[in-house]
Amino acid sequence: TMAQNKLVINADQGKTQISRHIYGHFSEHLGRCIYGGIWVGPDSEIENINGYRTDVFEALKALDIPNLRWPGGCFADEYHWTDGIGPRSERPKMINTHWGGVTEDNSFGTHEFFGFVEMLGTEPYITGNVGSGSVEEMSKWVEYINFDGVSPMANLRKKNGRDEPWQIKYWGVGNESWGCGGNMTPEYYANEYRRYATFARDYPGAKLYKIAGGANSTDYNWTEVLMQKIPLHMMDAMSLHYYTIPGNWGDKGSSTDFSKEEYLTTLEKAAFMDQLLTNHETRMDKYDPRKRVKLIVDEWGTWYDVEPNTNPGFLYQQNTLRDAFVAAITLNIFNQHADRVHMANLAQTVNVLQALILTEDDKMLLTPTYHVFDLYKPHMDATLLPSYLTSEKVKAGDVEMEALNVSSSLSEDGTVNISIANVDPDKAMDLDVLLHGTEAKEVSGRYLTAPELNSHNSFEDNEVVSIEAFDDFKWNKDVLNVKVPAKSVIVLRVK
Ligand code: AHR
Repeated sequence: TMAQNKLVINADQGKTQISRHIYGHFSEHLGRCIYGGIWVGPDSEIENINGYRTDVFEALKALDIPNLRWPGGCFADEYHWTDGIGPRSERPKMINTHWGGVTEDNSFGTHEFFGFVEMLGTEPYITGNVGSGSVEEMSKWVEYINFDGVSPMANLRKKNGRDEPWQIKYWGVGNESWGCGGNMTPEYYANEYRRYATFARDYPGAKLYKIAGGANSTDYNWTEVLMQKIPLHMMDAMSLHYYTIPGNWGDKGSSTDFSKEEYLTTLEKAAFMDQLLTNHETRMDKYDPRKRVKLIVDEWGTWYDVEPNTNPGFLYQQNTLRDAFVAAITLNIFNQHADRVHMANLAQTVNVLQALILTEDDKMLLTPTYHVFDLYKPHMDATLLPSYLTSEKVKAGDVEMEALNVSSSLSEDGTVNISIANVDPDKAMDLDVLLHGTEAKEVSGRYLTAPELNSHNSFEDNEVVSIEAFDDFKWNKDVLNVKVPAKSVIVLRVK
């Protein structure tokens, strides 16, 4: 007899590569993400490598992060890059008006950012200032970063200690231009994009991949207008922002104190990403059926009320097993949309919103979300496999959704990777996996679970939620039967 839940995977029918950039990250000058999280400065008591926290650097290095977006977010549209170059002690100070009104001393600037991405071996993604900047300012920033030769900006870069250009590729033209980035209409922004993008030059050996500032969540009109008004050859991609908020903007809900119904509501809202992408893709397909212009979901994740007694402008929140499911579901969805989605960036890397890492003075912990990114690593650059799932439902109060959520891919060496989330808090799922089109038989697994839905790691105990080996599966002839534990995320690899 077959199990109640069934997954069919066609291992010989993959067509689309899952860009590793879907597993990307975002670090803004916000709260303790950059300052205290990534950068403590070379004179800090906290262990560091040239100013970068050693523990955070090592954790991100181990995760093999494909890219890092910087300096914002809302901050990007009031950031003036020339304030962040030259001797640190001489850099002007500014107010970070969006995020707590704190003083920004500009000690982390262009050189510090590129220093970090070079250490990590990851790709930089910069968002330039459209809202309060100028075409000239953005144009010069690109010249400063990318031009290899004699020019005012290349010379200035050299004077500041860097001979070689950095050759950045990913370049965002403004952030949330419909909101904090200038409160523009889509028609107005489309024109601004055309001007800014014109002067964000391609230099020899350094062709930019230009990203237009896309829609807020379900603002499909924004997508439609940009597709109409911006010549398609002028943009490589368009962004999209979508946050998972259990309640509403006025009363978002607690990161750790929630009912089963709030839990499932949160996951249902995260799962909406699938429909959201489809809706934007349909609009894009009208103008670009060959899917040349990509979607970049450069801000996503959970957004809760800040932790009690923390600065409301710092967006510091805990991260529980619930967040692990939001990550697992969302990454499965991105994988499935790999023909249009080229990149995604979780908000944000350290100490802000759905963080990978939390720090307190010299202490650090890895969140459940970090572990999901670790589990999902095999999907990076693998080929998406078509799969068909039949799943039982899970219900809490008025909310009902599928208990299982999956995606699968094929690695270059022929390994099939299957990521499975069972969001049912109480019930293990009996799952039959039918793997067609491959001889692979040797299975290994890793998984994440915890005693409670709100289990989380703390600075006292950072092993409450961590990855363990998984082996509750067996072959029944050609069918792989998996007992997926209640509230767990599994990644199986079949060789
Ligand atoms: O990630 C926090 C903020 O959310 C970003 O600065 C902004 O782009 C979005 O509104």
